[in-house]
Amino acid sequence: PSGWRRQWLSSVQRLSLLLLVLQNSALVMVMHHSRNSPTGSQPRYLASTAVLVVEVVKLSASLSLATYGAIASNPPSSPLKTARHLYQSIFAPDSWKLIVPAALYTLQNSLVYTAISNLDAVTFQVTYQLKILTTVLFSILLLGRTISLRQWLGLILLTLGVALVQLSPSSTPDISTASTWTEKILSLFTSPSQSPAAHHNVLIGLTAVVGASLISGLTCVYFEKILKDSLGSTSSSIWIRNVQLSFFSIFPALFIGVMWYDGANIAQNGGFFAGYNAVVWTTICLQALGGLIVAVCIAYADNLVKNFAASLSIVLSYAGTAVVFGEKMTLHSTMGAAVVVVATFLYKSRPSTQQLGTLLPISN
Ligand code: C5P
Repeated sequence: PSGWRRQWLSSVQRLSLLLLVLQNSALVMVMHHSRNSPTGSQPRYLASTAVLVVEVVKLSASLSLATYGAIASNPPSSPLKTARHLYQSIFAPDSWKLIVPAALYTLQNSLVYTAISNLDAVTFQVTYQLKILTTVLFSILLLGRTISLRQWLGLILLTLGVALVQLSPSSTPDISTASTWTEKILSLFTSPSQSPAAHHNVLIGLTAVVGASLISGLTCVYFEKILKDSLGSTSSSIWIRNVQLSFFSIFPALFIGVMWYDGANIAQNGGFFAGYNAVVWTTICLQALGGLIVAVCIAYADNLVKNFAASLSIVLSYAGTAVVFGEKMTLHSTMGAAVVVVATFLYKSRPSTQQLGTLLPISN
């Protein structure tokens, strides 16, 4: 690309990464609050409905951006022509490729709600960094990428950092009162009795977050491949791809999540929007915004850089939950979070753009 275009791309890349750091930190705090704060006599909102609403918001936003793009690239065309052009791009013969990532992202988003409802914000945020590892594994397996020794070191440190936070007194139950080994092992997976959120089930939370990390790695590598493969074709801007992604996500979110899984619950407990309040709407908007920022990051940077930015948000959300919601800060958790950040920097260590498979190579 020419000089100014390079600079523009570089600014978009930096801005999207910065926005991702802020969005991630805000989302974890607000979502955690929305799932764990007392609701009084009101029922708690259902995660399945939120997953669906997020997709509808993203679909509208992506469609607006795609329409803007279509008008900007063909200024004199009539509204009818623009609509036809958009329709043909969205339902292009290769649009079916988005069905798999749409289904996987929907499952991932549901698992994130389950995880965040059962873990404290720091444990969730740090454990979710396993997606860095899964992204690398799937990049090696599916895209044939290689990673350097320094990056492997970063990955090992990352795992240690995650373990450190897991072993912190704030996230483990009271093992001293367990009398048998089975009890001791089981006690590792149940909430500590002094926990403010007694309804937490740590085993379910951890299983959900590991599942979400696995799906995140697989899906983002697959999505990056689709974006990269189609970059040359004018019909497939990132916003068209995102319209396709949200469109196909609506079906599993509606039929499996809302109707099949929560249908009876919705009918009995006051309808689709029962329990919705300002915090829930803020969670939904932040999550939808996050999806759009992730799309820009994958397109203008890549998945590994996107994950790097996301893990920086640990520090922000860690400090944030402690200050805003009074969650306990422990030495172990603080050290674990610090190790994760150092590991991420080591991991970043300027791999070649070819290794990263960058869509639009930009040197910083
Ligand atoms: O990075 P991570 O895997 O955690 O982020 C994935 C999130 O971004 C999911 O919520 C997914 O629905 C969203 N996303 C999106 N559009 C894309 C890629 C991801 O909305 N093009």
